[in-house]
Amino acid sequence: MRARPQVCEALLFALALQTGVCYGIKWLALSKTPPALALNQTQHCKQLEGLVSAQVQLCRSNLELMHTIVHAAREVTKACRRAFADMRWNCSSIELAPNYLLDLERGTRESAFVYALSAAAISHAIARACTSGDLPGCSCGPVPGEPPGPGNRWGGCADNLSYGLLMGAKFSDAPMKVKKTGSQANKLMRLHNSEVGRQALRASLEMKCKCHGVSGSCSIRTCWKGLQELRDVAADLKTRYLSATKVVHRPMGTRKHLVPKDLDIRPVKDSELVYLQSSPDFCMKNEKVGSHGTQDRQCNKTSNGSDSCDLMCCGRGYNPYTDRVVERCHCKYHWCCYVTCRRCERTVERYVCK
Ligand SMILES: *[C@@H]1O[C@H](CO)[C@@H](O)[C@H](O)[C@H]1NC(C)=O
Ligand SMILES: *[C@@H]1O[C@H](CO)[C@@H](O)[C@H](O)[C@H]1NC(C)=O
Ligand SMILES: *[C@@H]1O[C@H](CO)[C@@H](O)[C@H](O)[C@H]1NC(C)=O
Ligand SMILES: *[C@@H]1O[C@H](CO)[C@@H](O)[C@H](O)[C@H]1NC(C)=O
Ligand SMILES: *[C@@H]1O[C@H](CO)[C@@H](O)[C@H](O)[C@H]1NC(C)=O
Repeated sequence: MRARPQVCEALLFALALQTGVCYGIKWLALSKTPPALALNQTQHCKQLEGLVSAQVQLCRSNLELMHTIVHAAREVTKACRRAFADMRWNCSSIELAPNYLLDLERGTRESAFVYALSAAAISHAIARACTSGDLPGCSCGPVPGEPPGPGNRWGGCADNLSYGLLMGAKFSDAPMKVKKTGSQANKLMRLHNSEVGRQALRASLEMKCKCHGVSGSCSIRTCWKGLQELRDVAADLKTRYLSATKVVHRPMGTRKHLVPKDLDIRPVKDSELVYLQSSPDFCMKNEKVGSHGTQDRQCNKTSNGSDSCDLMCCGRGYNPYTDRVVERCHCKYHWCCYVTCRRCERTVERYVCK
């Protein structure tokens, strides 16, 4: 009886694709917004790709946020590619937005990561925009309640995380709040993972300081609470991706919840990414499941991680080729104050999967 739920799922899925109801992260298509679109008039909102009507409404009423949100969509693409550069699934399919393949349309581990990263990125971008004074609607974040430590004082402009989280969640969760679309399990999964993304963002808030005092003596330090770079948040989320929990949608108490599939009856933790469907191994090309395969991918012969030729090429073997790299070399420091370098060429051996 194993095949049955899968058939059902596939049917539901085909239906969802046809009617285009699985909107979730289609807003990442904003990364393709032409720079010529000024986004300074509410009519521009309906020209944006990938938005559900609630998001178009948010665009109209918060037009000043839209440049930041477009920027966030671009950052998601960059951070995702960077975090997965050494993996078989390398996030290239995110560029198909808004028409994703099954790797991102189904409740996979990969989609769990992308939902979390997207939610983190939008709130990150808004909080940062508050700090740089780009948004009329918000100012610097609050001065922390605790003392800043000896020799330090609070100052500078903190990232306004609460505003970022509030507005970011409104925008990126809107597709999951649309009634009567998609499966309930998928919606719960997407909302949960988005919340995990925001939690990772909250956890990235750290104390940053700048030195003052005569000739860099650092007798006084001004400190504020600032967010880490998005790529660091992405690295944290990748760790959570690697240990993500498979869940099922099951009654627990009076309502159905997502609970870990394997035996134990603990609820899902707020910090863990969850997924409903297992992914293929991404070794071979299979458009149907959203696998691009690893043929012609570069691999690392000396690594023993996921980018090693053994793992990346799935045991198929690899072909060597030589590549030329140009580097700065023989650098010399001149008093005062510049450096001159020569350009050197060097050949390196590289490998691509068969
Ligand atoms: C919107 O931006 C364009 C291009 O920068 C400018 O020509 C136009 O006057 C602006 N419109 C409004 C309403 O600010
Ligand atoms: C953060 O932004 C919100 C929204 O504008 C604002 O109400 C709040 O005062 C800001 N926080 C601080 C501490 O300025
Ligand atoms: C990511 O994988 C795809 C499919 O295998 C490949 O075409 C692309 O070159 C890869 N991108 C990078 C940056 O390695
Ligand atoms: C290959 O992996 C090794 C060990 O992890 C690392 O030191 C090296 O920089 C990698 N080479 C490339 C080309 O990425
Ligand atoms: C390879 O793996 C071993 C054991 O798993 C580990 O101790 C070692 O540091 C790894 N080497 C590299 C280059 O990553």
